[in-house]
Amino acid sequence: MGDRVTFGIVGCGIIAENHARAIEASPDADLLAVADVVSERARAFAEAHGRPQAYPDYRRLLERDDIAVVCVTVPSGLHAEVAMAAMRAGKHVLCEKPLEIRRDRLNQMIAVSETTGRQLGVVYQRRTTPVAKAAKAAVDAGDLGRLVLGDALLKYHRSADYYRGADWRATWALDGGGALMNQGVHGVDLLQWLMGDIRRVSARTATLVHAIEVEDTAVAYLEFASGALGVITAATSIYPEQPTRLSVHGSQGSLVFSDRGVEEWTVRGEDVAPRMGDVAGLDFAHGHRPFIDNMVAVVRDGAQPLVPAREGRKAVDVILAIYESSRRGMPVVVTHGDDGASEETSRS
Ligand SMILES: NC(=O)c1ccc[n+]([C@@H]2O[C@H](COP(=O)([O-])OP(=O)(O)OC[C@H]3O[C@@H](n4cnc5c(N)ncnc54)[C@H](O)[C@@H]3O)[C@@H](O)[C@H]2O)c1
Repeated sequence: MGDRVTFGIVGCGIIAENHARAIEASPDADLLAVADVVSERARAFAEAHGRPQAYPDYRRLLERDDIAVVCVTVPSGLHAEVAMAAMRAGKHVLCEKPLEIRRDRLNQMIAVSETTGRQLGVVYQRRTTPVAKAAKAAVDAGDLGRLVLGDALLKYHRSADYYRGADWRATWALDGGGALMNQGVHGVDLLQWLMGDIRRVSARTATLVHAIEVEDTAVAYLEFASGALGVITAATSIYPEQPTRLSVHGSQGSLVFSDRGVEEWTVRGEDVAPRMGDVAGLDFAHGHRPFIDNMVAVVRDGAQPLVPAREGRKAVDVILAIYESSRRGMPVVVTHGDDGASEETSRS
């Protein structure tokens, strides 16, 4: 017990369940406290997860010296507030995606991580799927030759009930966007992870079906720093939902995969069939466990987060540039905070 790494969770909603279950499943982690502004929610959550202490005010949780890691599972526009308070209280932070929704707050939370020396990691659990890891290894090994085209098709269905389910959803102030910032951010993250940094975007977003203030449909044309080109399409407006599909094409090979598995893995002059055996199963349900295990290693061994904040912000910066491009009707250069001439694109 004494050796276990101790966790607190702030925000006892839907995704907090995944964090709690992953902590419970780990022999090296203990959940000591949870917090939610809706005190009944915090109490019920604690009741369902081994009775950690429940607080209505997360600052009481942060005052505890016996908590090493805080999982931030509040609405996206509150991530910086809670994460910065937690790091200032001496905790390492595992933050839900998107890391934040505004560039100024991304800058601030990364600065706080660096000045306090507390680690700030982001959950992008699709990176830990066998197929995504195999794709990354193949790309990094140069198997596909020169990368020339990459696309992410992120076509989801969301119902009107989904949007009515929580009042922060689909608001600029707390969700920071729609099909891209909430649902699509996973795929944007994967695409830039595989293809490399995105330098410039030209985009059009629209709200075509849902009675929401953010986009439910989007298309972006991408220029990667490597010179490769690409496309992102994202939606929550369509029916039926399509599997998330990522395509990475190079001069020597192609890799196309979706939620249903590998659709194409071809390398010129090589039989890749033996390598495909291990990547068939896609297990998103247990995707949070590697992130909890990693935070245990952060505390015990000084490990780096699986997806550190500077890496985790990239998808958000791309999406903010897409919104800006659509609004201004012109291409926008993607920047990552302190690397130059970014424009503030907050709309809240
Ligand atoms: N990794 C994933 O695949 C994934 C999936 C779903 C959601 N998320 C992310 O997780 C976050 C939460 O999403 P959700 O669907 O669980 O939302 P939710 O609405 O179900 O839960 C959020 C909870 O935070 C609480 N809360 C709000 N303000 C608070 C405050 N100041 N202090 C303490 N608690 C507060 C709310 O009362 C609510 O219980 C979002 O950023 C979302 O993007 C990630």
